[in-house]
Amino acid sequence: MNMVEIITQKKLGRPLTPEMIRTFVAGAADRSIPDYQLSALLMAIRLNGMTAEETTELTLAMRDSGDVADLSAIPGVKVDKHSTGGVGDTTTLVLAPLVAACGVPVAKMSGRGLGHTGGTLDKLESIPGFSVSLSEEAFVRQVQEIGLAVIGQTGTLAPADKTLYALRDVTATVDSLPLIASSIMSKKLASGADAIVLDVKTGSGAIMQTLEGSIELARAMVDIGTLAGKPVTAVVTGMAQPLGTHVGNALEVKDAIDVLSGRTKGDLLAVSLLLGSHMLMLAGAADTPAEGEAKLRRALESGAGLEKLRQMIRAQGGDPRVCDDLSLLPRAAVQRTVTVGREGWVAAMDTTALGLAAQAMGAGRIRKTDVLDYAVGFILPVRIGDHVTPDTPLCTLFARSEAEAETAEAAIRRAITIGETPVAPSPLWYAVVTRDGVVRAE
Ligand code: URA
Repeated sequence: MNMVEIITQKKLGRPLTPEMIRTFVAGAADRSIPDYQLSALLMAIRLNGMTAEETTELTLAMRDSGDVADLSAIPGVKVDKHSTGGVGDTTTLVLAPLVAACGVPVAKMSGRGLGHTGGTLDKLESIPGFSVSLSEEAFVRQVQEIGLAVIGQTGTLAPADKTLYALRDVTATVDSLPLIASSIMSKKLASGADAIVLDVKTGSGAIMQTLEGSIELARAMVDIGTLAGKPVTAVVTGMAQPLGTHVGNALEVKDAIDVLSGRTKGDLLAVSLLLGSHMLMLAGAADTPAEGEAKLRRALESGAGLEKLRQMIRAQGGDPRVCDDLSLLPRAAVQRTVTVGREGWVAAMDTTALGLAAQAMGAGRIRKTDVLDYAVGFILPVRIGDHVTPDTPLCTLFARSEAEAETAEAAIRRAITIGETPVAPSPLWYAVVTRDGVVRAE
């Protein structure tokens, strides 16, 4: 079996055999197949698609290309949560402590920011002293002891995906449903959880911007999980605007602590409760989303969720006092609030552009080697549907210099459309997809 035959098969629109898939995945993992041949194949897949069987085979081959974490020493059903990526999307920092406070162990391997989207690891590292690098042994021990750990990947998880993802990024082949579904699910299946809740974003800041595309992606990932023997629930949630009001690493930690302290009650809390309730259901700790949400609310109101976050920060070497004293988080040199400047209604946001504005300020990487500035970003209190006047605060910028604040302000103004007529608020969620089908929000 040689690579030219495999590329030819897909170029002609024919399904790849399991042997062909295993061959190119092995060559991607050990780097024995040159990038130009892998790139040609990725483009053929992007243009001609894959069947459900091919997508599942690709996922399992990528899962098996590296280590598969063993979490069996942790008692109970371990439920993971994964977002397809968003802006101001800090749900892990809110729901993981709440779910753990309800007695369901959360052993989570998270990622770093990618493109315009933020990453949980970068946010956690903005907490002074916090380490996301634990051995698998220390990771398991921490979850046994306090019920919660959030770390970077241990071992070498899905190395084939690492190669293919890097090539997709530079060959315009990221936006392929089978490639996205297999990339995400291979890593989730390798990270050892018993069940998975997927937060599939839709809207201007999402990898799939249309609702039908997002539901199709959700369905593909649920089907892969089902075939791999792991229950998966996918919730399609809105990314027409940043989820929380804060964008930037330390700012998003602050947003999560504000939510867990009961000071903030917006969309970030609502979506965290929704996803968390599905995690409790998959773990057998709730029968309905309403029952799950009630349990999570009790953990929030009693302070048990915030206490869980404190315990995790302490266990991973961070300064737990940040939970009570937000001034211990990094602070930017320049801080300034700007107003909307006209009357109207917030009609739309280009959320990808907002994420790119934060990235350009230093909150995200433009090159792999870039060092992040944890303090920078912005607070955006306005939401789609809000009525605004010239004096309404549009955003507060946290920047390294006046010049960078200026550039970010211009980018944020361009990304937000103020209309002349009332606009309905943007829905928080659109559909829940399980092996039993799709239930749409009313
Ligand atoms: N996140 C991933 O891990 N892979 C993709 O292909 C897209 C988003």
